[in-house]
Amino acid sequence: MRIALDGPSGAGKSTVAKAVAKRLGIVYVDTGALYRSIGLYVQRKGISKDDKENVIACLGEIQLDLKFVDGTQIVLLNGEDVGGFIRTGEISMYASAVSAIPEVRTFLLETQRKIARENSVIMDGRDIGTVIIPDAEVKIFLVASAEARAERRYKELIEKGEECTYEGVLADIKERDNNDSTRAVAPAVPAKDAIFLDNSNLNQEQTIDKVIEIINDKTEVKKKPKKKKRRFYRVVKFLLGKIVGFFLGVRVKNKNKEVFDKPFILCANHTSLLDAIVIVIAMKNQIRYMGKKEIFKIPILNLFIKAMGAFPVDRKKGDVAAIKKTLEILKGGECVGIFPQGTRRPYQNPRDTEIKEGMGMMAARAGVGIVPVYIKNKKGKVKWFHKNTVIIGDYISPEEIAFPELSGREKYKAIADYAFDKVCSIGEEWKDKK
Ligand code: DC
Repeated sequence: MRIALDGPSGAGKSTVAKAVAKRLGIVYVDTGALYRSIGLYVQRKGISKDDKENVIACLGEIQLDLKFVDGTQIVLLNGEDVGGFIRTGEISMYASAVSAIPEVRTFLLETQRKIARENSVIMDGRDIGTVIIPDAEVKIFLVASAEARAERRYKELIEKGEECTYEGVLADIKERDNNDSTRAVAPAVPAKDAIFLDNSNLNQEQTIDKVIEIINDKTEVKKKPKKKKRRFYRVVKFLLGKIVGFFLGVRVKNKNKEVFDKPFILCANHTSLLDAIVIVIAMKNQIRYMGKKEIFKIPILNLFIKAMGAFPVDRKKGDVAAIKKTLEILKGGECVGIFPQGTRRPYQNPRDTEIKEGMGMMAARAGVGIVPVYIKNKKGKVKWFHKNTVIIGDYISPEEIAFPELSGREKYKAIADYAFDKVCSIGEEWKDKK
């Protein structure tokens, strides 16, 4: 999940973003800190903030890295943690000036996009929804009147014991607003599909609640899908079991575990196209699978696979829609089958596959458990006229895979690895058993 939180200085973006990141277990990225670090470098070198040429010339000397320690972002400017130096009024003005230089923005573009590609994030900035992550799932533009923001900032400064006047703070805010929103590149303007939130009259808690509400509204599944009549599924499953099951020599081990009364993700090793059929035959719960969008266009087959509960995924567009659909199904109380190895790997020890975190993300976000299943066959893949054994493992509960010390991508990866390790262990345990 990627959340873009844009808006002018002082609207409270960072406080909101931190709180949201904590609640959702995702990474908070403060992109302003990157511009501030460049501003700091320029100021330390004694270069005027308006001296574009020299600012651009500096970029080659700058290495910026972001680290996340316990969910807190640390900016390293040429290896130095500069967190303590970039929040002054002077550096704010430097940051605003350097951020208007296109070369500076290009310099920071990939750093920001890379983080958004690799993590579930809430990013706060000015151009996150328009430039950095234009396809973010949620875009919010947080504003407050210049007066309300000046009032808050003034109070903060006075509490810190800094000397200032309300008028001075207001003038600074207006100047930065003007710089940031009128610059030629990536001005701080809302994306067309951003949700506008004015918090002039809201306190911090109310703002956070409102933002969470918007995120839930955008990403949550509101209505439970109707339980469809599964008569067709049951008939086909029966016939598959009798006819195909016979020719595939399907045997099921740990039959007592076939039925689970909760929704779950079925996680299995993947050796053959026939794996999904073998699992459908073996399990009492209906297991729904994602299928390539293209096969849903083939007449008759299309009706058949739809009636069997398969749902389409568009591989080219990325899988946001498929993930949403999967979450919808799981939250609706049904089960989804996933082969976390991604592609079929016949004749291969499943332990040799690097597992992606997708399955973990779906289990965590839907709050469901995982059932590990091992498909065992003599020939290294499911084949007609050979014995194919489906061994059903113990249900892994959501509590077992909560991993509270981890968050975001790390947590999802840990869940996926944990479940797939169980799959492999079943295979090892049953290696010589009949
Ligand atoms: O959010 P902030 O106040 O820490 O940002 C400092 C400056 O950096 C601000 O004046 C505008 C600029 N900025 C930007 O242009 N684009 C971003 N994504 C983030 C900040």
